[in-house]
Amino acid sequence: MSGSVGDRIASLLQEKRVFTPPASFSAQARIKSMDEYRRLYRESIEDPDSFWSRHAEELHWFKKWDKVLEWEEPYAKWFVGGETNICYNCLDRHLSTWRRNKAAIIWEGEPGESRTLRYLDLHREVCRFANVLKSLGIQKGDRVSIFMGMVPELVVAVLACARIGAVHSVVFGGFSAEALADRNNDAGAKLLITQDGGWRRGKIIPLKETADAALEKSPTVEKCVVLRRTGHEVPMREGRDFWWHELMEGASDKCEAEVVDSEHMLYLLYTSGTTGKPKGVIHTTGGYMVGTYVTTKYVFDVRDEDTYWCTADIGWVTGHSYIVYGPLANGATVVMYEGAPNWPDPGRFWQIVEKYRVSIFYTAPTAIRAFIKWGDEWVTKYDLSSLRLLGTVGEPINPEAWMWYHTVVGKERCPIVDTWWQTETGAIMITPLPGATPTKPGSATLPFFGVVPDIVDREGNSLGPNEGGYLVIRRPWPSMLRGIYGDPERYEKQYWGQVPHCYFTGDGARRDEDGYYWIMGRVDDVLNVSGHRLSTMEIESALVAHPAVAEAAVVGRPDEIKGEAVVAFVTLKGEYQPSSELADEIRKFVRQQIGAHAQPDDVRFAEALPKTRSGKIMRRLLRDLAAGRPPGDMTTLEDFSVLERLRQSEE
Ligand code: WTA
Repeated sequence: MSGSVGDRIASLLQEKRVFTPPASFSAQARIKSMDEYRRLYRESIEDPDSFWSRHAEELHWFKKWDKVLEWEEPYAKWFVGGETNICYNCLDRHLSTWRRNKAAIIWEGEPGESRTLRYLDLHREVCRFANVLKSLGIQKGDRVSIFMGMVPELVVAVLACARIGAVHSVVFGGFSAEALADRNNDAGAKLLITQDGGWRRGKIIPLKETADAALEKSPTVEKCVVLRRTGHEVPMREGRDFWWHELMEGASDKCEAEVVDSEHMLYLLYTSGTTGKPKGVIHTTGGYMVGTYVTTKYVFDVRDEDTYWCTADIGWVTGHSYIVYGPLANGATVVMYEGAPNWPDPGRFWQIVEKYRVSIFYTAPTAIRAFIKWGDEWVTKYDLSSLRLLGTVGEPINPEAWMWYHTVVGKERCPIVDTWWQTETGAIMITPLPGATPTKPGSATLPFFGVVPDIVDREGNSLGPNEGGYLVIRRPWPSMLRGIYGDPERYEKQYWGQVPHCYFTGDGARRDEDGYYWIMGRVDDVLNVSGHRLSTMEIESALVAHPAVAEAAVVGRPDEIKGEAVVAFVTLKGEYQPSSELADEIRKFVRQQIGAHAQPDDVRFAEALPKTRSGKIMRRLLRDLAAGRPPGDMTTLEDFSVLERLRQSEE
């Protein structure tokens, strides 16, 4: 494990504050006490069949399952033999109740416009778009790439795919044409859904332009649907490109939800791993549906009266599980915002909270740290009295940021749920329950129902209190990934081949004397930049594709706002000279190759990279150097002078 993880253990060990849920919150919460949590947790472990059956029965199944779980390590099937449809559960199920007229989505565009879609409206739009998909030849099992901004039509597109049993692959709108094409090709996508452009910080993100460039290299994609959002002119290719509004004009609003098997593939979501190639994480229908439904119900304790806002982008898993599927399956009212947190000024999020009387607010530590920097006055000038529960996700939250969130945003009134989970886990795994769990700033606290985490060494031996080790999960859970698309070997090796009989998370953690989990960060070659997962190898592949670059190594360095910043150490080919212009050009090149979120913060030139005798780049040394720390053990370094020159290049 890297030195930086060890440092974080030391600092977190000093955190001793404990916050118990306010009595008034607990009184009306679903889980009101630790006793209740423990009782249900015990049931979920000792009698998982009864626990999961009872919760799954709250949802609609066209045919009930025969068996709750079939486990043949490392492959799980949940609600075996059951037939359902997740779109039906998110929409149709509510139409026979008073909720038909309830707001499903309250959307705020960055320029300031507002739209509300009741469950009835969302259902109608989804049915119409599902018919559009069918008219374009999309059938059950076909993959559909979605490359859009945060507009309601993105939710419509996602749910329409689910409705007809097509597999959606949402690609975050910040990705480059290269990255989009890679994902189209890996998924073998037949259709791409995009928009002319999206609004971000008052500027247009040219989504169609990027999509066009990607389509040049995406031979499997036959057609492209384009939503008009910004209204600027974009080229439309005859026979391939179709306007969303034109297709919708003639579409019927009657479309029965396709009955699918519980294990029918619901979506692919590409995420970074330890190699250069992003992996398509597979989620299926039944287990994912139950997992996101149950976690939303207990972790956010969502009520019909709530106005729930998760600030994530639907391009990432948090948006899939906690903007779309979990909240809608619960019949919640969801706020959705298109743009940046600091546009037109750093008060935007809090203005939205005040405007819509948001009661549950779920965001990322990186956003919290940015707000701290921008100044309390942007927060305190708005009326936040509607808030009753706060959440965070995406990276460890430092205790000071937690305390700020608790006092300045929550006014010491709102419990904070620090939720640990991953793209692969599909749903929240380690988390407080807001009416029950005493929280400690910086700890994700205790496992959710049915989750059996452990802290282990490489051999899988459990470690004692406060010993840092690998975070693993010892049992299958309903919303777990079912594989990596087209690469079963990678699935088996990466997740189940690291520690015997355990799911390997890639995170380091410790468990304190109360059994609370403290996540310390990644132990593999994955960076967490502003809550976005990036593989060092992926950025390195982009770097060496630049004509001037001979070799590159990427490491993270601690960053006050982003959590980690990207530092690229680069050696140049003989004919090139280091210069700040070239560094800039290289940074832009990575941006073009992957996307703005992967652009290195620093590019540092070196004559050679420090390597072990076997030729492995010594990332630990580079990390120390990037963070400005004195280097650790150097006994295996091949060329000491390299390190000296790297250090000098800082001055
Ligand atoms: C990190 C995001 C500490 C962790 C849902 C994990 C966290 C990776 C937390 C997954 C948290 C997520 N505390 N670390 N509450 N939540 N992480 O796939 O390193 O984008 O492995 O899923 O984010 O990132 P992903």
